[in-house]
Amino acid sequence: APARIAVTGLAVMGSNLARNLARHGYRVAVHNRSNARTKALVSEHGHEGDFVPAETLEELVASLQTPRQIIIMVKAGGPTDAVIDELVPLLEPGDMVIDGGNAHYADTRRREAALRDAGLHFVGAGISGGEEGALNGPSIMPGGSKESYQHLGPVLEDIAAKVDGVPCCVHVGPDGAGHFVKMVHNGIEYADMQLIAEAYDLLHRVGGMTPADVAEVFRGWNTGDLESYLVEITAEVLGHVDADTGAALVDVIADEAEQKGTGRWTVQEALELGVPVTGIAEAVFARSLSGRAGQRTAVRAAFGPADVPVAGDSSLVEDVRQALYASKVVAYAQGFDQMRAASAEYGWDLDLGAMATIWRGGCIIRARFLDRIREAYDKAPDLPSLLVDDYFRDAVRSAEEAWRRVVVKAVSAGVPAPGFVSALAYYDGLRSERLPASLIQGLRDFFGAHTYRRTDREGSFHTLWSGDRSQVDA
Ligand code: 6PG
Repeated sequence: APARIAVTGLAVMGSNLARNLARHGYRVAVHNRSNARTKALVSEHGHEGDFVPAETLEELVASLQTPRQIIIMVKAGGPTDAVIDELVPLLEPGDMVIDGGNAHYADTRRREAALRDAGLHFVGAGISGGEEGALNGPSIMPGGSKESYQHLGPVLEDIAAKVDGVPCCVHVGPDGAGHFVKMVHNGIEYADMQLIAEAYDLLHRVGGMTPADVAEVFRGWNTGDLESYLVEITAEVLGHVDADTGAALVDVIADEAEQKGTGRWTVQEALELGVPVTGIAEAVFARSLSGRAGQRTAVRAAFGPADVPVAGDSSLVEDVRQALYASKVVAYAQGFDQMRAASAEYGWDLDLGAMATIWRGGCIIRARFLDRIREAYDKAPDLPSLLVDDYFRDAVRSAEEAWRRVVVKAVSAGVPAPGFVSALAYYDGLRSERLPASLIQGLRDFFGAHTYRRTDREGSFHTLWSGDRSQVDA
């Protein structure tokens, strides 16, 4: 019998996805550029389901039922293009090529348009959940045509994570929408991790707690509003003792955070769209700062390290919890704002509630809190900001005092908390009656005749700054 679906690219993510498909009873054709991987997969996991090994892409294509569905799981960028170029001449109109990698959504838009011209469907599908998710149920964010989703949707929903029986997979929108949403997911992932890291740092350095103590705190937090995968694994990592030294592993790991680029893309795109994703940007920059080893050494030598007084009191843990929660609400508000802006820009008609729904399980940012976001958008699809939903408004209001105390403490102790600080500034910015943007407009008008609008009447105006300083219509 022909295979139902194919996977090419059998590194960990690809193999695990193929195994997930096979375990769900699909006959899966599998292919890898070097055949050894294909053989290894079939010999190690062949008993898990129905695999059809193919040595070449021709063989892979020939083994499939039509319309064909081929999932590409290779490195984003050039390697993905290379596979597509090789694949396209082998396909027939109506066939579907699915890119399950972390592609840039602009590449996905380009590829979708090119394949559409050739009568093929190209589906850029964000897949989150790491190796474990790929095998046992990821969150899947497919873009592409509605028609392709009719064929593909049932299979993807079948292998996706489920929460309350609802699959963590939905047709996100046309062309690059799926990869865009995955990119924002990763941006939020960066912000979430940065906030968690700041919470740890404050409890450790200001609160004087050991990593093991903080692990316990996170374990406790994971039973409340903050319940999430990242909080859960924070307790695991902080609680882990290095076998070589007997020290907490977190004290042995080099403190320079790396990045493969999806967080940076989120910020680049936000800059293009004019969306203030300050929390995500701070998270990306905090990673960059950590990597400036030479500058860190030089500045530490010039100024000495910050002399952090241990000033933990009984309320610090609870204050930090509330600061973390409020800052996290801000990070999500910013990410959802960015998705809404992109949706308008590209005509994607994104259903933001559905995005929250498919992030409830399977993905790295899965959290109890996403149910609340889903409810918020179910109630009000046009919510101007997540912050104004009743639930989040009350949550942020009740956290506000603690949040300010934590920011003050961090700043006065000299412990950097760019995530907490910028989230608070975002909140204060949005709620200010008047912003000093009016002064900026005045300055722009002064040096460049860039004009300004007035609060009391329509139109654009310019002040004759170097003349008699009267105002003229611009
Ligand atoms: C996921 C993760 C996944 C991966 C990131 C890590 O959703 O499963 O986000 O995509 O872990 O690529 O990104 P950095 O290497 O940039 O931290």
